[in-house]
Amino acid sequence: MKILSGTSNLKLSKDIAKKLKLKLVNTNIKRFADGEIYIEVNENIRGNSVFVIQSTSNPANDNLMELLLVVDALRRSSAKNITAVIPYFGYARQDRKVAPRTSISAKVVANLITNAGASRVVTVDLHAGQIQGFFDMPVDNLFTTPLFAKHIKKKLNNKKLICVSPDVGGVQRTRALATRVKADLAIIDKRRPAPGKSQVMNIIGNVKNKTCIIVDDIIDSGGTIINAVDALKKNGANEVYVFITHAVLSGDAAKKIKNSKIKKLIITDTIDNSQKIKNNNKIEVLSISSLMSEAIKRIANSNSVSDLFN
Ligand code: R5P
Repeated sequence: MKILSGTSNLKLSKDIAKKLKLKLVNTNIKRFADGEIYIEVNENIRGNSVFVIQSTSNPANDNLMELLLVVDALRRSSAKNITAVIPYFGYARQDRKVAPRTSISAKVVANLITNAGASRVVTVDLHAGQIQGFFDMPVDNLFTTPLFAKHIKKKLNNKKLICVSPDVGGVQRTRALATRVKADLAIIDKRRPAPGKSQVMNIIGNVKNKTCIIVDDIIDSGGTIINAVDALKKNGANEVYVFITHAVLSGDAAKKIKNSKIKKLIITDTIDNSQKIKNNNKIEVLSISSLMSEAIKRIANSNSVSDLFN
């Protein structure tokens, strides 16, 4: 088994490799003068099971293309099988036709990864579970719920907790967390009047005098979360903690979080945000390297991955 890293999140790849007691495969990933990507694998991988770690985060197109070219290089170098480990799976939010004549980008990305030569995908908190069906190969979708639950039990033990879903789509994820930390459940009725804009219509559940825990897969502009926090505070919540798997944090989102009423935003390292969140004391990072390395080990040894979540 070998671990190879793309350039999108080298820190996470190194942490995963260290936990597996492996060295990253020696590669040469460069850009030509016009921006095209050049890939070279500098060691023999013939007959090996290779795990390629690459988040397709911003710049999504470059990182995706890099993943495809690495997979292609491995296929042409006679790797036995190639697993695309995509901690953050970009383009997942476009998973259906939301309006006439729009693209289903998640399906296009799935086709590209398949055609490049991957035989398995491992990812974390897919925006929509059904994206697994866009692939005709095994897809292991890992969950951060146990990681978040452990942190909540350790740090917020004595509080009167309620888990809040920031929209109807996130109820399943929020209920899973609420069950683990033995908390109540509330749901925010969110509308999107226009792409990129969000509006809280109602809060279903009683958040008065409670410590709210919002859980979501993605924070992008921060609009959904900041509006949700304001609405919860207006409805009498004591304090609001936010747990997010994929911190996309576009534009000035990190700054908006710093100036918001959020008590703490807890994110994971599926996306490398080390520069963006430097000196931001409202944002804390939990690493998913242990979860990912354990999942990779189990896949390589043909052991159960779902047992990790029981
Ligand atoms: C939407 O369904 C996602 O789960 C997130 O709530 C959304 O992507 C967050 O976007 P933003 O931070 O821009 O409101």
